[in-house]
Amino acid sequence: MKTWICPGSFDPVTSGHIDIIKRAAKMCDRLIVAIGINDKKAPFLTAGERRRLLEKSIAGIPNAEVDEFQGLLIEYARKMEAAAIVKGLRAVSDYEYELQMALLNKRLDEGIETIFLMSGINFSFLSSRAVRELASNGGDIRGLVPDEVLDDIMAKYR
Ligand code: PNS
Repeated sequence: MKTWICPGSFDPVTSGHIDIIKRAAKMCDRLIVAIGINDKKAPFLTAGERRRLLEKSIAGIPNAEVDEFQGLLIEYARKMEAAAIVKGLRAVSDYEYELQMALLNKRLDEGIETIFLMSGINFSFLSSRAVRELASNGGDIRGLVPDEVLDDIMAKYR
């Protein structure tokens, strides 16, 4: 069984994340959408909130599931016997950081690939931070977050 990990902060999940998750799920048998829990980073949403929003958003994707991890992503990927880590790439600005992460992870475990999917053209400008800023200032976030969780996210940031 080919397992892939799609990691992220998902604070909150956006339509761009779901686009990557849907496309990646078609390319593997099991896709684990893994929320990185970092005690040094102060997220806006709790791990539980991020998890519930993700679970609601991916309910229609039969081979995708949500999990959480702490510590090194590569160790988590190894524990889950994943063949690859899959991430979305938006603009050139993502590239430098993502390349560094991919190369470090490759150094830590030669056997686990990092696979990048180019973000959909409609989502290349989109980030969780932008959603947070829009939502907390009364901006319209329809289409920027999955329909299933639009009301939850609006209520959270209002
Ligand atoms: O959505 P994000 O904020 O880009 O997600 C970042 C995440 C969680 C994927 C990243 O911070 C991560 O991999 N954290 C785990 C720690 C780790 O393994 N770092 C890379 C090795 S130096």
